[in-house]
Amino acid sequence: MIMLYDNHQRPINYLRLAVTDRCNLRCFYCMPEEGIDYVPKTELLSYEEMLRLVRVLAKMGITKVRITGGEPFVRKDMIHFLSDLVKTPNLQEVHLTTNGTLTQNLIPQLQQIGIKSVNLSLDSLNKQRFFDITRRDVFDTVMETLHALIVAKLPTKINMVVMQDQNIDDIIPMVELAKANPINVRFIEEMPFNGTNRTPSLLEWNYKRIYQHIEATYPHIYKIEDGKYSTSTNYQIKGFQGTFGIIAAYSRTFCGTCNRIRLTPRGILKTCLYDTGVFNIKDVMRAGASDAQIQATFLDALGNRAKDGFEAEQNRHFDPLITESMSSIGG
Ligand code: GTP
Ligand code: 5AD
Ligand code: SF4
Repeated sequence: MIMLYDNHQRPINYLRLAVTDRCNLRCFYCMPEEGIDYVPKTELLSYEEMLRLVRVLAKMGITKVRITGGEPFVRKDMIHFLSDLVKTPNLQEVHLTTNGTLTQNLIPQLQQIGIKSVNLSLDSLNKQRFFDITRRDVFDTVMETLHALIVAKLPTKINMVVMQDQNIDDIIPMVELAKANPINVRFIEEMPFNGTNRTPSLLEWNYKRIYQHIEATYPHIYKIEDGKYSTSTNYQIKGFQGTFGIIAAYSRTFCGTCNRIRLTPRGILKTCLYDTGVFNIKDVMRAGASDAQIQATFLDALGNRAKDGFEAEQNRHFDPLITESMSSIGG
């Protein structure tokens, strides 16, 4: 198997593909209430273009694709795209990150297609707090999706962004979910990608404080092994079926093993979440590039990658203060 490396000798085998910047929720930490200026449809990578790109990248060593958004399922015919995508030669795993509002009825199809796992965004177990964070009244739907995923035994992780004054009271109930359910509940540091120039109270709840908060209720926590390129540091509590993890997304403790690249819905390659984008592969393709030229363009970018998220942030040539929405990046 071919392995792709960056200029810091990190293997690159994971593509995060954001299929749309549209979303039917308005999560406080991701988008302003009025939404963002969505990308016109003609500016989006088409399904054909995405399938071609993944085919080319899978020949270079990409073995895992995670579909993100926006909310992937607001894009029409997503299931057909997914069923074509999983057939890409050399591609081993396709995963999904979703808000769970449009997912429940699709679970049997996702399983049948061979989607390996689902990461479900769920920031509160309290209906009112869920509404306050997402600005939409769909708590019951998302909870039904969670239960359906568990019943279907589709491997599931929960993503909860931890925010002062919003959902601190949810941390312990969320850990508790892992008691009787074989899921991985992950607590995420808030990042400044909220589509505004609001600077969140960054690091008020950093990974250490989140851990200490959980430890105060559950003294019998033990560390479990993390996956090779895991963003989360993972733990189990004695007697629990599931596990929990903490993602130091803003503290950026895991850059040394970063194996991922991102494509935004417009086709912009980001070699780090915190960079402003390296080139637009859609433009390269629409100008008639061959597969070999596409490969050369990616190789060039990977040979010039920031060593970590701090360096990438420092090099931002526009928008130095980060006003992008996570919805237009894919998280
Ligand atoms: P798996 O490792 O495949 O489970 O995916 P993931 O946890 O990386 O993906 P997911 O889409 O569930 O993202 C969970 C959280 O981690 C989100 O808040 C992401 O923005 C954050 N995250 C994902 N990848 C990166 C990364 O490369 N750098 C940083 N700083 N945060 C990331
Ligand atoms: N900070 C941290 N995580 C975020 N996500 C979206 N916006 C932010 C942010 N500002 C998370 C979502 C989703 C994942 C892809 O990224 O909750 O689960
Ligand atoms: Fe990779 Fe950048 Fe995330 Fe660090 S911050 S893990 S380098 S994408």
